[in-house]
Amino acid sequence: MQPCPALRLRLMTALALAAGLLGAAAAQDLALPNRPDSLKFAIIGDSGTGSDSQYRVAQQLLAARQKFPYEFVLMMGDNLYSGSGSKDYQKKFEKPYQPLLDSGMKFYAALGNHDNPDERNYKPFNMSGQRYYTFKPKAGVRIFALDSNYMDPPQVQWLEKELTASGSDWKICFFHHPLYSSGMHGDESLPLRAQLEPLFLKHGVDVVFAGHEHFYERIKPQKGIYYFVSGGAAKLREGDVNKTNLTAKSFDTGYHFMLIEITKDALHFQAISDQGKTVDSGTLPRVSDQEKKKFATP
Ligand SMILES: [Fe+2]
Repeated sequence: MQPCPALRLRLMTALALAAGLLGAAAAQDLALPNRPDSLKFAIIGDSGTGSDSQYRVAQQLLAARQKFPYEFVLMMGDNLYSGSGSKDYQKKFEKPYQPLLDSGMKFYAALGNHDNPDERNYKPFNMSGQRYYTFKPKAGVRIFALDSNYMDPPQVQWLEKELTASGSDWKICFFHHPLYSSGMHGDESLPLRAQLEPLFLKHGVDVVFAGHEHFYERIKPQKGIYYFVSGGAAKLREGDVNKTNLTAKSFDTGYHFMLIEITKDALHFQAISDQGKTVDSGTLPRVSDQEKKKFATP
């Protein structure tokens, strides 16, 4: 008996997805320790286009999970370009990441300059109705999501209070606009840097992830803090990294996402292109709060 056309289409789609996934998984080489007791997560930035490139990165993200069981995905903002009606959520988030969402994957979003602040009320972004929020995914690690569009006094006060109370060894911040980058937006970062960097140093922030620039850049450690720019999960500004002495490594010829693994004393990272190629990877030791305080102004 022949299956009905609708069922046949569903079967063919499932087969195509499985074949694509196998190919994508085969193309990827995992460059992380993948220890059973570590914290594992992924990073996407500037992802909300609904374009083929978003789907390609989504497929690589899904394939990576077969080898590296990350627990959640951080979104660096510009989660929905050009509109935020229910169709936009479907087209630019729910459909591209459907297999991950179906598997129970959690996404945590920050707001970008193209985002409607109402996205904070969209349940799958896990923002609990807030423009900025914090969560502790594992003992010894705390993550802070900020709204870099409006770094108003209440947010700065909130951040200072939460950082003071944290007590976690690892303090990880993420938000849309990078404090350091070598792209077209590099010079715009100075006011935000002047606002946030002293707080980060005073309270021992270890690593900062941002998007907005449509490429990948790992910044050389700045005053003991690690900075990554990851804004190429669906948008690309080819050739836009104007390498400065900030740049440790960059990739601006393709789309990408990141995998992160946190152990007690080190952060392991891997950036993977939409073709499954590793474009950067490595291990960074945790810098003690004492060490970072040396850079802080009293
Ligand atoms: Fe942006």
